Amino acid sequence: MILVKLGGSVITDKGRYRTFDPETTGRLAQEIARTGQEVMVVHGAGSFGHMLAKEHRLHLGITEDPQLLGASQVMSDVRELDLAVCRQMSAKGLRVVPLPPASCAIMRDGALHHLYLDIFKEYLELGMVPVTFGDVVRDEVRGLSICSGDQLMAALAHEFKPSKVIFVTDVDGVFTADPTQDHNAKLIETVDEKVLDALPRTERNVDVTGSIFAKIRYMIGMATLTGECLVLNGKIPGRLEAAIRGEDVIASKVVS
Ligand code: IPE
Repeated sequence: MILVKLGGSVITDKGRYRTFDPETTGRLAQEIARTGQEVMVVHGAGSFGHMLAKEHRLHLGITEDPQLLGASQVMSDVRELDLAVCRQMSAKGLRVVPLPPASCAIMRDGALHHLYLDIFKEYLELGMVPVTFGDVVRDEVRGLSICSGDQLMAALAHEFKPSKVIFVTDVDGVFTADPTQDHNAKLIETVDEKVLDALPRTERNVDVTGSIFAKIRYMIGMATLTGECLVLNGKIPGRLEAAIRGEDVIASKVVS
């Protein structure tokens, strides 16, 4: 099984509230479908999640009643995004089954405490493609928490030991600096703990599920559970498909 995360930056415009990119998502779905490989898909929330979640400070837990309406709106928004993603995927022949985390996960103090993994396993065995996504989820300590796509990726990688884990984003991989700001930024071919520690701590925009560093830390943790862990650019046609097929592509390889 190959575990793929479609980052919010590739399926939405992260800077504009609720803007979905149907062309890129449809093309990526087609690339996955053409390989005929067994996959599970996690997608991020992008501008359907982060903006409103930040406004309502959902990542800090529930301390005031009005946050609940904000949480409910974010849940509706990410479901709408998921529906749009799933429609693109099924149009390309992928037999998707949406599994919303709020209905199959429990958080404890911001950490993913329990994920109902049997349901993923059973749909996969049936020959379907489980799809889950960054969501607002019940938290035993904080009331509610943001469950990121990366936390879900880690839990799924841990359980299913995929042959490959692929993070699809809007840049070529992990860079020495922010490539959207610094033209001298260089792509890092192999990312490990040492590389992560040496990266400059400047941020374009820190979102509610943490910085790029938090994301890379999850990836490094996952690298031990899979044959290959890659970060690649989904805006460039063909890269995801080539990576799934095991061909050499421009990407960063994450190792533990
Ligand atoms: C964010 O999930 C979930 C919410 C804000 C509700 P992710 O952290 O996985 O999303 P992206 O990939 O960064 O957009």
